[in-house]
Amino acid sequence: MNEGPTRILFVCLGNICRSPLAEGVFKSLLRARSLTEHYRVDSAGTGAWHVGEGPDRRATEVARRHGVTLEERARQVAAPDFVDFDYLVAMDRQNLSELSTLTRRRGSRARLHLLREFDPDPGDRQVPDPYYGGADGFETVYVILARSCTALLDHVEGQRSAGTRLGR
Ligand code: 4NP
Repeated sequence: MNEGPTRILFVCLGNICRSPLAEGVFKSLLRARSLTEHYRVDSAGTGAWHVGEGPDRRATEVARRHGVTLEERARQVAAPDFVDFDYLVAMDRQNLSELSTLTRRRGSRARLHLLREFDPDPGDRQVPDPYYGGADGFETVYVILARSCTALLDHVEGQRSAGTRLGR
C-alpha cells in the first residue's frame, strides 16, 4: 500500500489567476467529499513576476461568487517540486513544455498532465489565460476548472484506491 497523501501541484504562468483558482476548486471538492486528509494540493507559476502577491482580484472575486476562498501567495515552480509532487498539472501547453524540460533535467518521476486532458469537454485542451481580458473570462475559466478538477479528482481517486500511485 502507498502511504501518505497524493500530492498535486497546479501550474500556470503567473500563479495569480488560473492555478490558484484550480487549487481552490480542487480543495473545495476534497472538502465536499471528505478527502482532504488524503491529498496535498498546491499551485505555482513558471514565471517569477508575481511572487509573494495574492491572487488577482478578479480570480478572488469569481471564486468568492462560487463559495471558494483563495488564500495562498504566488510562488515560482522550484526544484523540490519535482520530487515533492506526484502530479504536475499544467494549464496550457507553454506551462507543460516548461515543466517537461525541467522534469527531464531533474529526472523527476512526477506525472505531467494538461488539466484539460481530464475535461469531458476539452476544447483545445488548454485553460485560456484570462489575465489580459475582462471578468467574463474569469467566469469562463472557473467553469472549465470546476469541470476539469472534478474529472481529475475522479481519475486520481481511481489511481489511489487501486494503489497505483507512484511509490516512494
Ligand atoms: P496566470 O495568469 O498564469 O493564470 O496566473 C497570468 C498572470 C500574469 C501574467 C500572465 C498570465 N503576466 O504576464 O504578468
